[in-house]
Amino acid sequence: MKLNDFRTFFNKELENIYPKKEIDTFFFRIIEAKMKLDTTAVFTKGDTKITDKKLAELTIITERLKTEEPLQYILGNTEFYGYNFEVNPNVLIPRPETEELITWIKTSYLENTNVKILDIGTGSGCIPITIKKEIPSANVFALDISKKAIETAKKNAENNNVDVTFLLHDILSEKKLESTFDIIVSNPPYVRNLEKKEIKNNVLNNEPHLALFVADNNPLIFYKRIADVAKYALNANGILFFEINQYLGKETKEMLISKGYKNVILKQDLFGNDRMIKANL
Ligand SMILES: C[S@@+](CC[C@H](N)C(=O)[O-])C[C@H]1O[C@@H](n2cnc3c(N)ncnc32)[C@H](O)[C@@H]1O
Repeated sequence: MKLNDFRTFFNKELENIYPKKEIDTFFFRIIEAKMKLDTTAVFTKGDTKITDKKLAELTIITERLKTEEPLQYILGNTEFYGYNFEVNPNVLIPRPETEELITWIKTSYLENTNVKILDIGTGSGCIPITIKKEIPSANVFALDISKKAIETAKKNAENNNVDVTFLLHDILSEKKLESTFDIIVSNPPYVRNLEKKEIKNNVLNNEPHLALFVADNNPLIFYKRIADVAKYALNANGILFFEINQYLGKETKEMLISKGYKNVILKQDLFGNDRMIKANL
């Protein structure tokens, strides 16, 4: 089969499930990953012959996409801040809004060398690994309650050639952190069950619920706990950064102020949604 013919087949199989633009994005990513042909080549080399072995592989990917499995899990990796991260169903797929959080940290971190940073709820390790890449002098730590997430994050640190210390730790437990930090950052679980109807099937049925959901009656559970932990674990002039639920910006800000935090700044993402907060003691 030729590349053009496979594209026709691919479009037809997926047209009732995804918008055309998303199907095109999938196609370009798959052909790049599996046939090493870039987007231009998809248009200029449409008569490239696909071997039977490759075709079998591409057909399996098409079938998996039909079940709404995220392409990042199918291919086993994704790009975040220009770096490559292995992903699997034990870790959340890093999101573009988290890239904006990293940029905010980069532009406001303390200019001392060896700034010590902790990421709480690290998942794939996208936050600490990217920070270490972007601020090489930083001393970076990360924790997660999930052993499998920590294993994936460690692999990602190795693949990206950075040194990050990973800890298995339940941030909601009473166990105290043993170090103090100049920056504490977290993108914790924040989706309320009542928001489940807004969540697409590919997320709901595939990404780890441990990474996503909190109870409707206590949606800020992680933020409150981390704000308490940061009180003893932040160094003088230290900064706390959160990615937040876009519907709970005001509540998160008020909670931080009520716990004695100052300079609480709520920031919007590229789409104008309340998405990040920073504060200090
Ligand atoms: C929203 S995900 C964020 C993952 C990653 N930091 C990112 O931005 O893509 C939240 C993470 O918190 C972790 N988590 C959930 N409960 C936790 C707990 N009690 N203590 C520590 N980490 C927890 C989950 O395993 C998950 O990896």
